[in-house]
Amino acid sequence: MDVPARVGVAGATGAVGLEMLRILEEREFPVASVRALASGRGEGRTVRFGGEEIPVGELREETLADLDIVLFAAGASISRTFVPVAVELGAVAIDNSKAFRMDPDVPLVVPEVNPRALDGHAGIIANPNCSTIQMVLPLAALHEAAGLVRVVVSTYQSVSGTGLAAIRELKDQTGAVMEGAPVVSQVYPNQIAFNCLPHIDDFDDEGNTLEENKMIRETRKILDLPDLAVAATCVRVPVFRSHALAVNVETESELGPADARRLLDDFPGVGVVDDPGAAAYPTQVDGSNSDTVWVGRIRRDTSVEHGLWLWIVTDNLRKGAALNAVQIAELLIDGIPD
Ligand SMILES: NC(=O)c1ccc[n+]([C@@H]2O[C@H](COP(=O)([O-])OP(=O)(O)OC[C@H]3O[C@@H](n4cnc5c(N)ncnc54)[C@H](OP(=O)(O)O)[C@@H]3O)[C@@H](O)[C@H]2O)c1
Repeated sequence: MDVPARVGVAGATGAVGLEMLRILEEREFPVASVRALASGRGEGRTVRFGGEEIPVGELREETLADLDIVLFAAGASISRTFVPVAVELGAVAIDNSKAFRMDPDVPLVVPEVNPRALDGHAGIIANPNCSTIQMVLPLAALHEAAGLVRVVVSTYQSVSGTGLAAIRELKDQTGAVMEGAPVVSQVYPNQIAFNCLPHIDDFDDEGNTLEENKMIRETRKILDLPDLAVAATCVRVPVFRSHALAVNVETESELGPADARRLLDDFPGVGVVDDPGAAAYPTQVDGSNSDTVWVGRIRRDTSVEHGLWLWIVTDNLRKGAALNAVQIAELLIDGIPD
């Protein structure tokens, strides 16, 4: 790949796309040029990059030409149409949507966990689901030491995980409730302000949501543990930014909380905040705008032979989406460390 690279961001005006532009700039990603692309809606729009306003173009076949890397964050149906076009035109596509994640020919990559999955990629690389990314880093650390047997997770996911329209909906509904005005729900099927919705993405025939299925299947793929027992309940909570997970982990061999704390703290990209007596544990407010996967409330689950509880908090727009995608792009440029 040529360095510096010609980079495209498809969905550059959205919650993830805007964060991608910020992270490319912050991490001084070696760009020859940056092309911001979105829908054709709205004339003359610009986004900020490199201290300047850059124009937002319309995502079309022609606007995907002459790019080395395209970061996609415009939704699954757009990705299904345009990711193959970008690859055909010579770019590597790093896709944030669910469109290609479970395709056996597409690597699903978290750089700290399975960078070698990138070897021999065929042009499309999938970025995992936000809640899955933040769960697999701590799980990889524990698996290396004690072998995973079973994982049960409940999520507390912020509205920014749905995008900019959902952030506006929570703000508007909160204002309406406080003023005693009627609450209007357009993004979510039920009121999200002062409420929790056990409903993220559609339901399958068994009553699971597709978000829950993503956490199960993507975790197995990333950790290369196709038979790992994983169960998930995914809940949308009235928080603007960062997702939290309560994760119950059963391991093959004994792993006490002190050893788990040490292993997690040593794992790249993971930090431990775990002093409950001092009210010190990760929160969604503290985790926002941070690049770290924060873990706390590390304690034994005595209901099984080798059980642990973890509380994991991560900024869903950064490590859960944009940062992970840019880290993948960095691996493409710099190569995979041994
Ligand atoms: N939010 C998260 O935490 C998160 C985490 C992981 C993955 N993702 C995935 O990332 C993608 C984007 O999510 P988001 O949260 O950033 O959503 P968002 O805030 O709603 O942004 C959507 C983006 O897609 C663009 N878009 C919509 N229709 C388009 C079209 N027909 N052609 C080209 N661009 C179009 C929008 O452009 P306009 O401004 O022109 O409408 C906007 O830039 C989704 O696939 C989502 O599942 C999100």
